[in-house]
Parts: sequence; structure tokens; C-alpha cells
Amino acid sequence: MRQDAQPSHLPVMWAQALDALRVATDGTYLDGTFGRGGHARGVLDRLGPDGRLLVMDKDPEAIAEARALAAADARVAVRHASFATLADWDATAGGLDGVLLDLGVSSPQLDVAERGFSFGKDGPLDMRMDPTSGESAADWLARADEREIADVLWHYGEEKLSRKIARTLVARRGEAPLRRTGELAELIASVVGRGDQRIHPATRSFQAIRIFVNRELEDLEAGLAAAHARLKPGGRLVVISFHSLEDRIVKRFIAARAKAPAGNRRMPVAVAFSPSLRDLAGAVRADAAETATNPRARSAVLRIAEKLAEAA
Ligand SMILES: C[S@@+](CC[C@H](N)C(=O)[O-])C[C@H]1O[C@@H](n2cnc3c(N)ncnc32)[C@H](O)[C@@H]1O
Repeated sequence: MRQDAQPSHLPVMWAQALDALRVATDGTYLDGTFGRGGHARGVLDRLGPDGRLLVMDKDPEAIAEARALAAADARVAVRHASFATLADWDATAGGLDGVLLDLGVSSPQLDVAERGFSFGKDGPLDMRMDPTSGESAADWLARADEREIADVLWHYGEEKLSRKIARTLVARRGEAPLRRTGELAELIASVVGRGDQRIHPATRSFQAIRIFVNRELEDLEAGLAAAHARLKPGGRLVVISFHSLEDRIVKRFIAARAKAPAGNRRMPVAVAFSPSLRDLAGAVRADAAETATNPRARSAVLRIAEKLAEAA
């Protein structure tokens, strides 16, 4: 019997995301952002004995939890990799009935100072979802030139003081390398000031560095394309974003495959267009009850698209 037992630590937009996937008991679903498995367990509750759940995460700690789940449930398969590579996984070759991406960082990543994501908790300046590969925030900030740092803060954080922060950072690292999140947060606060007390002055810069270090937007573009390639007709693509840069990518991806481009003066006659996705809901937001109890839900946007059968 299906149990709608919600996990004690509720993932954002849990019920809406599961409804959007419209889980068929014998279907094959992929959760590209396992985290601590809140959404994944909801999918498993809805799957029958012949269903399959494929899970991915970049984070080794998330993957350890996913492996424990797989050891207890033969319907689950696990891969430690970015969802950008989901189509390279043999298990997806037979097609997918649904793909869920719940983007960004997990609560455990933010809560554990040692992961280096948090300006509120002093820890090593790392910020990698997968600390076993790629370059840490500290290593990048130690070698990048001033212009590159400023560009990252501007493009990924929309930080107006990007140039001043980058200049201060480069001057400061000439004296001693930046190794701790607390040092970076202090340095940024000294440039930005403490105007709006509701938002920490380093919020935008930390977001920017995290997005850059983890190649989040590139992975999202590649992951959407891979999901689209693997979805069966009728399969659902369900994505939860947490900031406008992500949501813009998802929105445009769906629109480009759902709507014929409008004609314009230079090209008044619409070119032949055959849609491969149907946009099912536009931008869905968390309800008032959820945003009242979970501040992270306030910035969440859920989008749902359905794969269409190929035109004959
Ligand atoms: C918001 S949490 C997901 C929470 C999850 N839905 C749950 O119910 O517990 C985001 C997770 O996605 C992972 N992640 C982010 N980008 C990823 C990517 N490109 N590939 C794989 N995992 C990614 C992070 O490591 C993190 O564990």
C-alpha cells in the first residue's frame, strides 16, 4: 500500500514534485540529486516491485546514504556522478519515465562547517559538492586573476561591488592565502558593509563562487539535454530551482522545445517546428504553509514538462 509518510526533514516542494512525476508502478525514474533521499523515498513508496529508481549525486556523503538504501531495496541503482552525465549511464539506455532535479545544495552540505559552503559557520574554504574532484574555492581564489574573480561575482552573484571585492581579495591574498570561509565572509563584509541586516553581505558572493566551483549552470544545461534525450514519450521532467539564473535556463530549455519561435520582421514566416516537450505548469511556487516553515522554499520554483512522441 502506498504510504504518504513524509520524511521528517522535508525536502522542498515534496508533494508537488512527486505529483508532477506521476509515478507509474512499473516505471523507471531517475533522481539526479539524491541528497538525503527525501524525494527518492517518496518515489519508492509509489513504485511497485517492477519499478526502478536510478539515483545520482556528486556528493560522496549523499552517495553513501543512497548505497545503504540500494542495499536494502533491489529496485534502486546508484551512480556517483553529475546528472550532466546521466545519458552515459547504461541503466538509462532503456529510457526514463521521469527525471527529477532538485538543484543546489542540501541542508547537510550547508550545516556542516567542514564542507566550506557557509559564511555563517567557519570552515575550510572548499564549497565542492564532490570534494574528491575539481578545484576548491580556496585554490581557485588563490590563482584566479582579479578580472576573472570580478566576472564570477558579477555573473553568478549579481554582486554590484564585484570589482571592488575582487581588488580587495587579490590585495589581501598577497599577504596571506584565504583558507577559511570566515575570513572570506569578513573580507567581503568589509567591502560591502552591513546595510541590510536581513541578508549577510557575503550571500551573493558565496553563491557566485559555489556556482562557479561546481560548474552548476553548465551541468544544468547538459543535464536537461541528457534528460530530454532519455525521456520516453509521456515521461516527465521535473526541476526545482533556487535562483533566477537556474530557473532562466530551465524555463528557456522547456520553451524552446514546447513553443514555435514567434515570427519577426526579418523572418515573418514561422519555420517548421515540431514540439518535443509540453510545458505542464509554468512556474510553480511553494504554498504559504511551506514558506512559513521553510525559508528555503521561498525562492524555489518548480517546472514540469512532458516529453512528446516524436513527430511521424
Ligand atoms: C537540494 S539537495 C537535494 C535534496 C533531495 N531532493 C532530498 O530530498 O534529500 C541537492 C543535491 O544535489 C546534489 N547536486 C547538485 N548538483 C548536482 C549535479 N550536477 N549532479 C549530481 N548531484 C548534484 C548536491 O550534492 C545535493 O546533494
